[in-house]
Amino acid sequence: MGTSEAVLQVLSGAVPRLFHSDSCFSMSDSIYASKFRLKCSRKRASRCLQFLKCSSVLQYGVRGIGSGVPNKKADPSSLQICKCQKSESVSGVTTEDGNGAWFVDNAKNLNPINGMMNAPNVLEFQDLQHLKQENEDLKSNSANGTLRDTFHKISVDSIEDEAWDLLRESVVYYCGSPIGTIAAKDPTSSNTLNYDQVFIRDFIPSGIAFLLKGEYDIVRNFILHTLQLQSWEKTMDCHSPGQGLMPASFKVRTVPLDGDDSATEEVLDPDFGEAAIGRVAPVDSGLWWIILLRAYGKCSGDLSVQERVDVQTGIKMILRLCIADGFDMFPTLLVTDGSCMIDRRMGIHGHPLEIQALFYSALLCAREMLAPEDGSADLLRALNNRLVALSFHIREYYWVDMKKLNEIYRYKTEEYSYDAVNKFNIYPDQISPWLVEWMPNKGGYLIGNLQPAHMDFRFFSLGNLWSVASGLATMDQSHAILDLIEAKWVDLVAGMPFKICYPALEGQEWQIITGSDPKNTPWSYHNAGAWPTLLWQLTVACIKMDRPEIAAKAVEVAEKRISQDKWPEYYDTKRGRFIGKQSRLFQTWSIAGYLVAKLLLADPSKAKILITEEDSELVNAFSCMISANPRRKRGRKDLKQTYIV
Ligand code: GLC
Repeated sequence: MGTSEAVLQVLSGAVPRLFHSDSCFSMSDSIYASKFRLKCSRKRASRCLQFLKCSSVLQYGVRGIGSGVPNKKADPSSLQICKCQKSESVSGVTTEDGNGAWFVDNAKNLNPINGMMNAPNVLEFQDLQHLKQENEDLKSNSANGTLRDTFHKISVDSIEDEAWDLLRESVVYYCGSPIGTIAAKDPTSSNTLNYDQVFIRDFIPSGIAFLLKGEYDIVRNFILHTLQLQSWEKTMDCHSPGQGLMPASFKVRTVPLDGDDSATEEVLDPDFGEAAIGRVAPVDSGLWWIILLRAYGKCSGDLSVQERVDVQTGIKMILRLCIADGFDMFPTLLVTDGSCMIDRRMGIHGHPLEIQALFYSALLCAREMLAPEDGSADLLRALNNRLVALSFHIREYYWVDMKKLNEIYRYKTEEYSYDAVNKFNIYPDQISPWLVEWMPNKGGYLIGNLQPAHMDFRFFSLGNLWSVASGLATMDQSHAILDLIEAKWVDLVAGMPFKICYPALEGQEWQIITGSDPKNTPWSYHNAGAWPTLLWQLTVACIKMDRPEIAAKAVEVAEKRISQDKWPEYYDTKRGRFIGKQSRLFQTWSIAGYLVAKLLLADPSKAKILITEEDSELVNAFSCMISANPRRKRGRKDLKQTYIV
């Protein structure tokens, strides 16, 4: 039996059917969807009013987020009732009715400027830099090892202290409650663009840092407020994206209160991509949201958030959007260019690894959190089947190492059959000359993208690291990815961890693929620039594989410069020698990424809030499919049929 047959058996007739939209979307859902769209088009003119509101006059004790009502069908007018909202308590314990009355707390008093953070204390920061320089000087003059160690510790401690101060200064408040962190707080940059917003993906390391510090409130608020934004009305040129989409970012705005000039109110203003450069839809936001939700529960022990009806509905809406049937033949998610951390044109449209790793991870996290109930049986079945098909597809077809490259090099092409070895009709000439040199004897990695007749052989870091953390890569593959990172340290880390991808697109390729993007010139920004924020994902992956020393080494490299360089967003050049051409300074996720790496290395057991493993059900189903793969075993009979039901 060929692989496709096995897959078919798992996913269709012989065993419970793969998710079908009819079975998962109830009648009322679809009626609602069409009504909702009608309403959206009528309301388009008032786009600027599409905010979550928080009146500074009416903010005391107004109804909270948690009405327990599924928010998908929320009437926008009812959302506007939601004036001032705050989590039930700092400890994350819910109030009796589970809804919580929302009060302004001390947080506002600490940071009173319009609910936003204080301006950075530049003088203090310079003093700190000065002190550090003195330490450095003393260090180099000292012949005494102990003294040197002490100074090293002091300077590392001061970097961490500084990072915490900066992270706290980046906190954004909404009605007096911490709700997220601003993307960058760069006093030297005159053009803020949208870096003054809370980005969903950027907040993840901030949220994890706060969780690891035992400060759960901000994460809880973030989860619940962004959940409300999920159901917001959104359109671009008369078109509404799918329900369940999470925004890329949001901003807290202070606006005059309707009908009262003397008062103001705070509103949450989300951007779903309709204002973003290139109008890119943030596919990763909802996936990260699910991953953070699980981490919150695991770390705080407060499962009441994930158990709430509105949160359960939010999870399902994201899943339905991802699992919905389409035209695609592959189990991977089909997305446009720029739909993740790389949010500009970089030739990653199709099935980019980063999205697949986050998708897999979010499916596993959701599976853990979804409450068993009649209505979600079909969704759970679809989810299980997708997990198996997705992991099989990525592990089999995205993997390259010396052996696999050699196989591709000798591929036959134009195979018309069900059991073709070269299923995607890859022409061996696609193996780029750089790769022949670059691939180490020991090690391997998952390629960036796979389409008909196209393998994108670039190494994308986040996708590979998160495939390790989530278990999308097998244990052997995960070790091989870390082996490759060690072998290619000079290319992937060099002066600053960690290259976002490798190698850069250059010359005509850069012109054609990026559209001659001046921000993504070779070895800059998304085009193989180095991003310090990736330290935290590297650390999670290394800890999972019990090889934390690799991450520790990378952290040491970062510590040499990151604070002196004022926490840049990214670095340029092949070896990461320059601060990025247009890099923001005091980029929050560079700061938070460093802190998460330090916190996890100090207590590796904490990484389990981010790590997921396959359970035996998935392993069984997977091994059934893998042994049916014709490339491995042609014509094998007697397959053990262990399927997920
Ligand atoms: C850039 C990055 C994106 C990030 C945003 C805010 O657009 O490409 O990944 O979320 O900046 O920092």
